[in-house]
Amino acid sequence: MDKEKRPETGGERLSAKPVGGQPCNPQPPGPEPRIGDPAAGDSLGRHPTGTEPGIVEPLIFELHCEGHNSFSPPLLDVPDVPVADLIPAHLLRTKASELPEVSEPEVVRHFTRLSSLNYHVDKGMYPLGSCTMKYNPKVNEEVAALPGFRDLHPLCPPDAAQGALRLMYLLADALCRITGMSEFCLHPAAGAHGELTGMMVVAAYHRDKGNQKDTVLIPDSAHGTNPASVNLAGYKVVEVKSGANGCLNAASLKEALGDNVAALMLTNPNTLGLFEEDVLRLAEIIHSVDGLMYLDGANMNALLGIAKPADMGFDVMHLNLHKTFSTPHGGGGPGSGPLGVAEKLRAFLPVPRIRREEGRTSKQTPKQKEKERFALDFNAPKSIGMIHSFYGNFAVMVKAYAYILSLGGEGLESVARESILNANYLKALLAPYFDVPYDKPCMHEFVLSGKRQKALGVRTLDIAKRLLDLGFHAPTVYFPLIVEEALMIEPTETETKRELDRFACAMKAIVEEVERTPDIVKQAPLTTPVGRLDEGKAARDLRLKW
Ligand SMILES: Cc1ncc(COP(=O)(O)O)c(C=O)c1O
Repeated sequence: MDKEKRPETGGERLSAKPVGGQPCNPQPPGPEPRIGDPAAGDSLGRHPTGTEPGIVEPLIFELHCEGHNSFSPPLLDVPDVPVADLIPAHLLRTKASELPEVSEPEVVRHFTRLSSLNYHVDKGMYPLGSCTMKYNPKVNEEVAALPGFRDLHPLCPPDAAQGALRLMYLLADALCRITGMSEFCLHPAAGAHGELTGMMVVAAYHRDKGNQKDTVLIPDSAHGTNPASVNLAGYKVVEVKSGANGCLNAASLKEALGDNVAALMLTNPNTLGLFEEDVLRLAEIIHSVDGLMYLDGANMNALLGIAKPADMGFDVMHLNLHKTFSTPHGGGGPGSGPLGVAEKLRAFLPVPRIRREEGRTSKQTPKQKEKERFALDFNAPKSIGMIHSFYGNFAVMVKAYAYILSLGGEGLESVARESILNANYLKALLAPYFDVPYDKPCMHEFVLSGKRQKALGVRTLDIAKRLLDLGFHAPTVYFPLIVEEALMIEPTETETKRELDRFACAMKAIVEEVERTPDIVKQAPLTTPVGRLDEGKAARDLRLKW
């Protein structure tokens, strides 16, 4: 056999052609761009002002160049048989696969450049208030990717999935200990899904008792998902005004109270980053009409190991595992918003529930542990039913459990304490430069107002965009709605003092620019791959295919 002969893909060599592409032209038409020429952009085609519209990294198909190869198969050392002799004719391609021909370095560089076009939490501080974008230890990703977890099929019968069931059971148990709730259901796929499930449980409770309720009360500082979930569950929303101290008070709650109130949906710490000081009194008032206290527990990062929602009078709550417990929020990946309930609501939780059949004490001998079995229980006549296929997003649960075990009780408490310390430190650094609408100690996040800068013609949005030029992700802006020109900053516990100082420096520099050279701030970002986008169009007029 001819040792130099390369294997072919079929009787006839298929040459990959680009989709609508041309062979590459090493000599692009027109004058060659010169370094430093503002029209040329940099090596990535980025316009130096960042205002040039257009794509900054070509598609892999556009990089196609006939003859470029990323892979050279080894020389043939078996008999050369035409592929048509091996594969039935109806399964053979009749035309080229239309894959791009690109050299290996080009592939590596293309995807490396793409991977770093966006800002992400592994690049730097991401102080997006209400999103808890903290650094998540990589070891938890590795644990979740262990083949025993990763490759487990959701249809696997319980007898062959005992490890996974045990993990879910123990995670739910840990969440009960952290929050004081009696039982957790891990099924909801996000915080908003947890809210909806919780409201369905609230409705089932009132139906079961024959209570005539049609209204849920929500403070004006609430996250937008709260009223949406309440509405979806069939309740009317009545907004209750926060007091001058940023918290809900007994007087305004009583004004909105009636026998028709099914629940109060409260976030604590609230979205202003403040602890709801009157929570015990609020719970008493709501319980007086057999209403339920719902906690939006998405901000649990600030309470871990310090305070339990059950002790504050909450009957039902959700957590965001993809904020507090080691999965990034907003990463586009799966999330998890487990729902916890007090004893009186357990019967209404979704099915299936995981039941431990033996070995109930924590002091088990290895033999007892061996006998311990976990089963799926669908027998719950008052349950609201299934709210997710199978058991929810399992990989997120594995990460959360690994995170909880690796930190332990003391570690979790230090997460909360350090997130509070970091937020108060940063707030003190920034307070001289911005309006501080609620000037008292905050929890894990705080809200500033850009009113002073607005008076000089620069909006909060401009400040947020300018931060991108200085190497930071922007904070949340224009939320909560009750603060004019709001900047909501959540540094999280994973940032060092040095990083907080750098962030404060950047904010101070922007404030100085607002005073001296406001146009720079108004045009920002100037150094990112693309400049100001039409965000409305980007959200509503999606181009999802090439
Ligand atoms: C206070 C609060 N409630 C609810 C949610 C909704 O969570 P999700 O985005 O997972 O639906 C968030 C999200 O960040 C939040 O910050």
